[in-house]
Formats: sequence, C-alpha cells, structure tokens
Amino acid sequence: MCIKYIVLLTILTAKVSYGIYPYFDTQDFIYNVPKVYRISITLDKLLEYYEKKPSKDPEWYIALGMARGQLEYTINELDKSVPGKLKENLQNLTRRMDRIKNNTDFSSFVYRSKDYEYVAKAIFENMDVLSSLMEPISIGTMGTQKPYRFSFEQYVQEAKTKMPTRKAADACTMQLLISAMESQTTQTDGTCELTPECSAQILKGSGLAFQQTSRIRAAALAYLFDCLEGVDIAAHIYKLCIQVYKETKSLEAWDLPPGTRTLFMQQMLYCSTQGYGEFIKPRWMNRILAWQEPKGCYSDDRQPFMKLTGFVGLTSVPSQKEREEEYRVKKAASSEGGACNSLTSAMALGSLVIYIRALLETDQAFQYDVLT
Ligand SMILES: *[C@@H]1O[C@H](CO)[C@@H](O)[C@H](O)[C@H]1NC(C)=O
Ligand SMILES: *[C@@H]1O[C@H](CO)[C@@H](O)[C@H](O)[C@H]1NC(C)=O
Repeated sequence: MCIKYIVLLTILTAKVSYGIYPYFDTQDFIYNVPKVYRISITLDKLLEYYEKKPSKDPEWYIALGMARGQLEYTINELDKSVPGKLKENLQNLTRRMDRIKNNTDFSSFVYRSKDYEYVAKAIFENMDVLSSLMEPISIGTMGTQKPYRFSFEQYVQEAKTKMPTRKAADACTMQLLISAMESQTTQTDGTCELTPECSAQILKGSGLAFQQTSRIRAAALAYLFDCLEGVDIAAHIYKLCIQVYKETKSLEAWDLPPGTRTLFMQQMLYCSTQGYGEFIKPRWMNRILAWQEPKGCYSDDRQPFMKLTGFVGLTSVPSQKEREEEYRVKKAASSEGGACNSLTSAMALGSLVIYIRALLETDQAFQYDVLT
C-alpha cells in the first residue's frame, strides 16, 4: 500500500505548478487587513476547540491538511506591508494546526464505509502534495448567476432526483483512486480509466446540493491524477462551479434554511479552491464568522437535510450493521457537548482560510466587496 502511494506522489510532484502569480501591483488588499484579523481570531478559537477535543472525523483532518497548505502559501507570499503582528497571528495558527495534527490518533478515526476509508487514507497519504497545489484565484468568469426562482422545498425535491447518493459517490471516488494508482504502478503505459457508471457520475447530467459538491471533489481528484483521458476536466469543473454559484446564491436568498450551512460553506470552499473568486464575498464571510458557537466549533443540523435531499438513502431500510455504523459516524461527527459538528467545522476552517488567502493575496481583493 505504502509503495503505491509513494509512486503516486512522485507523479504528482511533476505536475505541481507552484502557480504563484505576481499580483500586489496595487496595495488594495491592505484594506482587508482588519478583516483578516477578525478571521484569524475566529480560526484560533475553532482550532483551540479541536486541539482540546480531538475529532475522530477524517473530513476534519482532510480540511486541516488542506487549510495548512493554503495558510503556508499565504504566509510565504505576504506582502511586506502586512503588519508583523498579523503575520505572527497566521504563523501561530499554523503552529496550532501542527499540534493538532501531531496529536492525532489516526487509528481512532471512524469511517462511514470501507470505500470511504480507502478514499480518506489515500488523501492523507498524498496530503503534502495535494495541499501544495494552488489554483490562482480570479474573478469575472462566473457570470451574474441569479438565484433559483423556485422555493427551497422545491429545491430539496429536485435534489432527490439527482445522482449520486453518498454511497455511490464514495464507491466511484475509491475506484478513481485505485485506478490512478494502478495506472502509475504498471510498467506499460497504463491509463487511469473509470467504469462507464463512474465517469458518467462525474461528468453527465446535473447535480444539486451535496450531489454536486461530491462531483466537484471527484472531478478535482480525477484532474490531479490524470484520469478521464480526452476529457477537459478543468472546463467541466468550471461548468459545475457555475451551477454551484447559482445554488450558493439561492441558499443565501432562502436565508440558509436549517441543515444548509455545511453545504453553503462546502460550495464556497470547493469552488474558491478551484480558483473562482466569486465565492469570496465579505458578506458570506460575515455569515460564517457569525455562526461560530461560543465554544469555538461549528454546528449544523445537516443530517435531516441530507436525508431530505436523498444524499443518504432513505428509501432502503438500513440493516442492523448499517444502523450501528451510522450511529458511530454520527457520534464521531458531533463531538461532546452535542452541538459541534466536525464536518461543519471542517468546512468553516477550509473556507475561512481560503478567505484569508484571497483577501491578502490578490490585487483583486479590493473588488470582492462589490461583487454581487
Ligand atoms: C503567538 O504565539 C506566541 C506563543 O504562544 C505568543 O507569545 C504570541 O503572543 C502569539 N502572537 C500573537 C500575535 O498572538
Ligand atoms: C510535530 O512532530 C514533528 C515530528 O515528530 C516535530 O518535528 C514538530 O516539531 C512537531 N510540531 C509540533 C507543533 O508539535
């Protein structure tokens, strides 16, 4: 297993483009320094909570690893005019992240399925590389997407008709990673091929809610691992993010109904990580900041929402074993004290860190305020 992962790493390294772009030709970003202070305080509290109460949720550690990479990059690229104290704040955040990672007992993790366990472990093994890949953030490509004209209830009903379920998404992502590794380890020029069902899941049709974000994650992995030869995956991700942008705006227009905070932040995180700066909006950031629980973590009532949208199967009666598993996963996700949810916290962590990067990095930073 280890050997396979290592091989993958070298392949990836060749693909890494340290895409650091020469912005900072204006000083507009300096207006964002107070915002970044505010975010860093929120992040410090969030990380402090999980340093004291380690999570058993793999998604928290995936988000932590990715956020660590974004923050490292941001600190290395800081303009000289950024106050030293702010830089120190950001460095202290990375230290906290490292302490959390160092104190993590990976054997205590709870996985929702074997497929998902494989996916999460492959991501951990490749984290150093995955977290150092930076897409440039730009604005002006998403168009003016208007919120849906139908209601939230209709949206939920519509989502139910979409594929994939979480189970199918996990199975496809696992297959993708196995194929990626096999194609790198075989001597012949192996290609990373997916079954027709799996590539259809990633490429065909339309998705909504978590169905759509899971497609983005799979597509992003397929892109990194050179799967789906002959397909312009970057263009595909672009199309997916345009659709997501409409959804994110709709969630806002519906005033973020219960259970949708996690999704809202996941949409922002996944698409801004792909470089779409339209997802960086100070008014969205303010919402995230306001959602922090007094104890530092984030909570969301997302389980009922996921069931409503059909992302976790409601139709088939779960077996005893599945119910036990679901219970363990739920227990791992909601840390002691009830309200905290590790996936919601993970999405808050990831999106806040990419906000910091965007606000400090680009000369477009000044424009985020006026984006509608
Ligand atoms: C960073 O952490 C160090 C050590 O814990 C502390 O002394 C320092 O005040 C922190 N810096 C900021 C800006 O909070
Ligand atoms: C984490 O562990 C590594 C290696 O064991 C060590 O070098 C590093 O200083 C540790 N970092 C923190 C923040 O404890």
